[in-house]
Amino acid sequence: MVKERGNFNSRFTAIMAMAGSAIGLGNIWRFPYMVGQNGGAAFILVYLFSAVFLCIPIFLAESIIGKRTHLSTFGAMEKLAPGTRWKWLGFLTVFTPLIILSYYSVVGGWSIEYFLKSLSLSFSDPAVSMEEHSAVFGSFITSPWKPIVFHTIFLLVNAVVIIFGVRGGIERFTKLTTPVLFILIVLIMLYSVNLPGAKAGIDYLIHPDFSKITGSALLSAMGQAFFSLSLGVGCILTYASYLKSDENLMATGIFTALFDLGFAIIAGFAIMPAVFAAGIEPGAGPGLIFETLPFIFSTMGADAPWLCDIVAILFFLTILFAALTSSISMLEVGVAYLVDQRKMSRTRATALLFAGCWVLGVLCSLSFGPLKDVHVFGMTIFDACDHLTSDFLMTFGSLLFVFFVGWKMKKAEVRDEFTNGGSLRFNKRVFDVVYFFIRYVAPAAIIVIFISNLLM
Ligand code: TRP
Repeated sequence: MVKERGNFNSRFTAIMAMAGSAIGLGNIWRFPYMVGQNGGAAFILVYLFSAVFLCIPIFLAESIIGKRTHLSTFGAMEKLAPGTRWKWLGFLTVFTPLIILSYYSVVGGWSIEYFLKSLSLSFSDPAVSMEEHSAVFGSFITSPWKPIVFHTIFLLVNAVVIIFGVRGGIERFTKLTTPVLFILIVLIMLYSVNLPGAKAGIDYLIHPDFSKITGSALLSAMGQAFFSLSLGVGCILTYASYLKSDENLMATGIFTALFDLGFAIIAGFAIMPAVFAAGIEPGAGPGLIFETLPFIFSTMGADAPWLCDIVAILFFLTILFAALTSSISMLEVGVAYLVDQRKMSRTRATALLFAGCWVLGVLCSLSFGPLKDVHVFGMTIFDACDHLTSDFLMTFGSLLFVFFVGWKMKKAEVRDEFTNGGSLRFNKRVFDVVYFFIRYVAPAAIIVIFISNLLM
């Protein structure tokens, strides 16, 4: 099975695939609205801090397990800690991505709808006001059937790609889309920061107000950093299992993190200034980009409608591609586990996970409309799925991974994998620092934030 999966061709394709998983709706859709809900610049600082000091060690821990064993989570744990309960971590890697994929594909569905809308050239009309854009979005997501149709299509595309094999497709796909994604987001950012009234948005992103950093904002920033780097559910572990044995983990980790962070920050500067220019409440929540972007496009439309239509089409297509390369990686983790360990056929495994995701996704989708009064832990079903996974399950998974590498694996083994048997000089030099972060800093920080949040 492992042989069949093969290796990534080169460091470049490996990084593009990992970055393809990392860069997704988390950067374009979730990051800006989380920033808006949690106080702007101060949230970004905590996010950057967690990314560097927590996420890179976790990323490395997951990669070490994956590259060491060339197996997916369950098998990897069994190989490294035979006869222990660690292998049950494999379950977490089936259920957590399943829950994430459920609500992720609802938003993926929204981007299909908006992509189709952009194809009908309906964003270039400058006469449409911000309120009208919001109203259109509101009536779309609260509709009892339309978003479900798109959610289904989005999930089906995932399933089809997974059934027909992803490797060649994903590699080729991400190699192309990741650079295009960067170019587009930079163009939108340049436009956005030059809008009249954009300065308030820029200030919001660069002047931290530390009074906004509450315990829950801390946890959300950490959760967002984990979410954005696809950590804690075995995604990175599985991708790292496709790396060649002589690949440099430090290089793949740092580059993936840099691309992902860079993309999120640029997306913040693409969206927040426009939010302020449009006079929208930055804490608007999950609908933020779907209400703002159409507005940006229609103000552009006043000067050059054709340009606006092209940019709108490309932008929604980019969101859609970014979402797909990430969601496929979520589905792949669960499918890899079922195929490897449960000896299920690929098609069956995909069908099973598809069915689970579809049902939960329908509930998430309906929680904006007919089921909006159904509350789980005081939140709508959609919000509950999001918070449960990114604030708890992924954090918990990350804790287990660093704990495993820091305390369960032998230090010599970790060193050997990280330095490729001592052949990587830079890695040898930084190993002690990295190990200290994996063994002490990351677990301690996660536990402290976790407990303090439970107490609140
Ligand atoms: N990181 C992706 C994003 O930012 C989402 C994602 C892909 C993910 N794989 C994951 C999130 C695994 C959590 C776990 O959109």
